Parts: sequence; structure tokens; C-alpha cells
Amino acid sequence: MKIDNIINEIFEEEIVSLTFSNPFKKSEKFKKITIDNIDNMYTISEYSETQVFHKHLSGFETKRLMHELFETYKQLDGKVVTGNYNIRVNKKGNVLRRFSAQTNQVIESHNRSKNYILSNYKEMEILKDLKIVSHDNEIISTMFDKFKQINKYVELVDDLIKNDDLEKLKIVDFGSGKSYLTFALYEYLVNVKQIEVEVYGIDLKESVIKDNQALTEKYGYKNLNFIHGDINDIEIDNVDMMISLHACDIATDLALNKALAWKVKYIVAVPCCQNELYKQLKSDQFEKMLDFNIIKERMSALITDTVRSNVLQYKGYNTQVIEYIDSSHSLKNLMIRARFTNHTDHKALDNIIELQNTYNFNQKLLELQNIGLKK
Ligand SMILES: C[S@@+](CC[C@H](N)C(=O)[O-])C[C@H]1O[C@@H](n2cnc3c(N)ncnc32)[C@H](O)[C@@H]1O
Repeated sequence: MKIDNIINEIFEEEIVSLTFSNPFKKSEKFKKITIDNIDNMYTISEYSETQVFHKHLSGFETKRLMHELFETYKQLDGKVVTGNYNIRVNKKGNVLRRFSAQTNQVIESHNRSKNYILSNYKEMEILKDLKIVSHDNEIISTMFDKFKQINKYVELVDDLIKNDDLEKLKIVDFGSGKSYLTFALYEYLVNVKQIEVEVYGIDLKESVIKDNQALTEKYGYKNLNFIHGDINDIEIDNVDMMISLHACDIATDLALNKALAWKVKYIVAVPCCQNELYKQLKSDQFEKMLDFNIIKERMSALITDTVRSNVLQYKGYNTQVIEYIDSSHSLKNLMIRARFTNHTDHKALDNIIELQNTYNFNQKLLELQNIGLKK
């Protein structure tokens, strides 16, 4: 089988994670390279002897990269939604491809005892269209992480509103992507909580919006809308809750900025990869801390999310930062959850300014809200 066909086949089966290893040249800088897919955004991690470098690519760019990687590495071990690949390439370019199909039954029986908030998942037909549950009503093992993620998110939203005795709720999901969360939350609020909801999923990708609109029609979901557009350009009246899950890089800032402009009562945001501060952080005081890429990367993410949370506190929100899912599952596991109380926390702004003075950066949400220092 040709490499071209193998790459196309792997994409068609939907990548979960891939590892290229065993380079042809001993001197190769990166000993292994991994590719992880979150909703068709690909995180590439390059492992040298001592460091890991990350970058984020589109599907098109990832395909192109895979061609190069097949020329550099002898081995690919990959997990796709339908099974596992083991591919070996020799110097002459001969390819040995092994594929073992996934059995779907395993996960559910292992986890039967766990109480998921979406305990009625077998009745949620939409989860079959989203390829989270199989036609035999089992959670598809390669999608189990996704299933856990949406359960936890729904649980944390439920916990935020549980004492508010709501009859109606208008929600906007920014960067909704394939909308696993949007559909699951909608189903939960309508069928389990019996709240009258109006939900909007917003995304830049026209194709996912069309697919989601088709599913909405198929299931006759009322008041569930998908809009193709940029977060920046969306205007919706009287929104009660803004949610976002892994809205890439500064898209989380755009989402928080809209939520603040609309003065929504509830904000639930799980940020994604973060590149903005990484390029800027500089500190006389902590110079040696920023010598190590991985530490600098984590510092950048932590400072960004501290700033975002401080902005919400300063703008009158009672704000929590909580672990969303355990870190063995995903490093993008921090949730910013907030409720509007109209209490301005001035110390939060002092903290932002102190961080900017110490680490010397501009940050998108600060810029959009016109607060903090201009560096
Ligand atoms: C990593 S995906 C997450 C999808 C989904 N929330 C989930 O976790 O299942 C991020 C999504 O944000 C969307 N996005 C990024 N920037 C955006 C913007 N400025 N406006 C609207 N959507 C955006 C992307 O198109 C992508 O579908």
C-alpha cells in the first residue's frame, strides 16, 4: 500500500493519536513525534533527548507533515476511532501495514458502576451520530475520553445552576466544533432538568455548522441553533450563559470578552492551547525559570489563565478555577467558572499589573477590555 493511501485512510478513520518513532538517522533531532487530534485541530509534540516542543496544525498541514515524517521515521503506531495501526517503513520505502479493529464493548462493562451525569446515554440517539456510542449502545472505546469530558462539563454546569431554580436559560457555546458538548448539554437541560433552553453553537467552520444543523433537524431539537461565524461578529440578546470548550488560543479571550460585554450571568470556559504569552514572557526576576521550554510553556498557560480569571473578578464575577478532568487525561484541563455578582475585586487588577510588570507581556483579553498596562 502506498504512503499516500495510508495517510488518507488514517484521516478517514479519524485520528485519535499517532506516534512516529525510530528515526532512519541516529542523529535525528527528534526521537519521536506525536500527533493528537482535538476536533480536527492537531497538536504536534516533538521530543528531543531533553525537551518537548509543541505546535498546532490544521488537518491539511498535518497531512503534509505526515508525508515528511514517513520519510524520517521507520515506525508509526496510531490510534484511530475504529482501531489501531502499526506501520513500518524500510529504507527502500517498502511499507508493512497492520491494522487491528477496535471492539466497542470493553469500556462500558469496565465502567458500569460509575455514575455519569449522562446516565441516560443509551437513550441519547444523537451520541450514535456523533460516534460516541455504538449501535449496540456501548461507548466506543476510542471516544471514551470525549464521553468523560462532556459528562464532567455537564456536571460542572449543573453544579453552577443547581440552586437557582431556573425555568429558562439562554446559552451560547463559542467554538462549538462538532458540538458533542452542545448537544449533550442541550439534551440534559431539556430532558433531565426540564428547563426551557435556547442554545446557540457558534463556529468558524462552515462544514461542522452544516452537519450540526442537519442533526438538529433530524432530531427536531427546538431552540437549538448553529451559526457559522466569528465570535467577534456575533451579537445575541439576553444571553444567560457563555460556555466554551477548548476554543483555540485567543478564541477563549474573544469568548470571555463577549460574555463580559453581554454581562452574562454564568461563564464556563475550558481554555485550549495557548501561544500568545509564550512568545513574549521575559523576566529579570525569574530569568532562569524561563530557560526551560516546557516550564515556560506551562508558565505562559498559567499566567494567561490567571489573568483571564482576574479580569472576570475585576469585572464583577465570583470566579473559580477548577480542575476539569484529571491531568493524565488531558493537560488542557483547567476550567474557569464564574457567576456575576457585581462585586468589583480591585485586588484582581493589581495582580494583573504586577504580573505584567514581572513578566512583561500584553494579553488579548486585557487589550479587548482595555485594562492593565500597555507593554
Ligand atoms: C478544538 S475545537 C473545540 C470544539 C468543541 N468545543 C469541543 O471541545 O468539542 C475549537 C473550535 O473553535 C473554533 N474557533 C476558533 N476560533 C474561532 C472564532 N474566532 N470564532 C468561532 N469559532 C472559532 C474552531 O473552528 C474549532 O472548531
